[in-house]
Amino acid sequence: MKGTLPLLSHYAQQAQAKLPANVWHYLQSDAGQGAQQQCNEAGWQTHKLIPRPLQALQQPSTGCDMFGEHWAHPIMLAPVAYQTLFHVDGEIGTAVACNAQQGQMMVSSLASQPVADIVGQAQQPLWFQLYWQGDRARTEVLLHKALNAGVSAIVLTVDAPVKQALMDLPKGVSAVNLEKPLAMQALQPGQSQVFDGWMTQAPTWEDVAWLRQQCKVPLLIKGLMHVDDAKRTIALGCEGIVVSNHGGRVLDSTPAVAAILPDMVAAVDGQCKLLVDSGIRSGQDVFKALAMGADAVCIGRPYIWGLASEGAMGVAKVIRTLRDELEMTMALTGVSRLSDIRQVDLY
Ligand code: FNR
Repeated sequence: MKGTLPLLSHYAQQAQAKLPANVWHYLQSDAGQGAQQQCNEAGWQTHKLIPRPLQALQQPSTGCDMFGEHWAHPIMLAPVAYQTLFHVDGEIGTAVACNAQQGQMMVSSLASQPVADIVGQAQQPLWFQLYWQGDRARTEVLLHKALNAGVSAIVLTVDAPVKQALMDLPKGVSAVNLEKPLAMQALQPGQSQVFDGWMTQAPTWEDVAWLRQQCKVPLLIKGLMHVDDAKRTIALGCEGIVVSNHGGRVLDSTPAVAAILPDMVAAVDGQCKLLVDSGIRSGQDVFKALAMGADAVCIGRPYIWGLASEGAMGVAKVIRTLRDELEMTMALTGVSRLSDIRQVDLY
């Protein structure tokens, strides 16, 4: 451990020591044999901060507003599948940690505990991450299960239509909120698993338009990296986007998310909420994302390192660490409010 605050890498080391090798590999894996995750992390490091001492802070706060809710800080937990794989506390433990640290959470479509039970443990509204279920009828069933559980926003993830078998799940861990696994049409010899298989079940822009009509809560699209896609999402009336390359886990050779974020912010131009994830590893990274114009950030692997290390307590410590680092960065750069971070120039 370095410095005065525990760095998140400390939890990564603990998690690696505790998890079976195949589970650690599943958690850390990406599309580029490690290169994509490093690329994302390095992207945030490219930008530097200038200290601004002697500024008297004016009622400093990390609070922000999101769809009519007040958040104590802008750090959200990204959807991560099968959390009982990492610790028996699972998604419910993650929700309890959010209670302790006023965190926000997106529950994955592939959660390993019932969405109603997870929402039932939370003291604040949770969001639900929706994976397209092959067709509208099946997608609607999952959507309504989440809405009936009381989630306050839906996040459709669109960047992972092609599923790679990253590991065999152990007995007792499964996506309990899905009716049954997607039935894939049997392929004829010579047919493509990608074109004739997975992609026949992937959503399209028409499906996004349909989903916008079905949701009476805010709808966000997660996994966008192109300005035209951001503009189309806004044109369809969605309330937000999550700029993300899925932590580098899907398409190999994408740019660092930090590199494309300014263009995405310019394209969105305040017309919807803009969240960002992939490679955010410190409160300084959170600060930089906000300085570039994001409204909030999501973290993926780091809170799972905490979950694997110490269950719900570990997740709470990870959120607290990021909050402490964000506050420290605000203090050292002379910034009192998140809205003022946006005025800070990065070097
Ligand atoms: C994910 N991610 C993810 N995204 C999603 O929309 N639904 C899901 O079920 C999952 N599952 C999942 C499992 C694991 C093990 C990881 C590491 C990630 C992607 C996640 O929401 C987020 O976009 C990235 O994790 C962000 O990058 P970092 O913070 O992990 O670098």
